[in-house]
Amino acid sequence: MIITIDGPAGSGKSTIAQRVAQQLWIYYLNTGMLYRAVAYLLFYDPCGVFHGNIEADISQLTREQLDALPKVEYSYSAAGAAVAVRGQDFTQQLFAIAGIDQLASRVSALPVVRAYLLDAQRDLAKKHDVIADGRDCGTVVFPHAQYKFYLTASVDVRAQRRMQDAKTLALGLTFDQVRADVAARDERDEKREIAPLRIPTGAVVIDASDMTIDQVVERVIEVVERK
Ligand code: DC
Repeated sequence: MIITIDGPAGSGKSTIAQRVAQQLWIYYLNTGMLYRAVAYLLFYDPCGVFHGNIEADISQLTREQLDALPKVEYSYSAAGAAVAVRGQDFTQQLFAIAGIDQLASRVSALPVVRAYLLDAQRDLAKKHDVIADGRDCGTVVFPHAQYKFYLTASVDVRAQRRMQDAKTLALGLTFDQVRADVAARDERDEKREIAPLRIPTGAVVIDASDMTIDQVVERVIEVVERK
């Protein structure tokens, strides 16, 4: 079984997907973490030391450069989704370093990066029943998923929610900065040529602007159980 949840930055996908995974006892695949991990490893080693390898021009990134990166090990357990390199966890860094989200968004617009991560995402779903969240899970990665959702909310609500997130708080950003960041990522993720953020055909659209997390989780489970 594959369930996909796509949607813009800050729409609550990972919170919802994780809750649904727990309730249905299935595996959670956070595809955004894979893009963040690649963006991170282009510039930092897993210990957090900046090496700035490819700072020149990421638009010239090649498959050889990607293949030379340490292999990202993705895992999901009761403790949540995690990424590691050679067993060394670096999940926290993906959210604790300002700008990794924008970098991930820029890197993810490159066809070479999307091709690099496509099989990895599909392989992870082969071994489990899975709920995957991201931007192109229902359109490109798992077009045959049995259940597809598109989760959204207004930019203001999404920025507000980000502000309440401990990880954002730790970065010390203002509401205007967070809102601008969310809007810039929307723009880039929706307008890129390859695998842009779109409502997948047949997806159930949920506008969570005025909904609680519990209500959204309930709605997703209701749709899955009804089908
Ligand atoms: O879900 P997130 O905010 O952690 O994702 C970070 C960036 O990764 C996002 O701005 C765009 C990119 N991404 C993508 O292009 N495709 C996905 N399936 C998931 C994320």
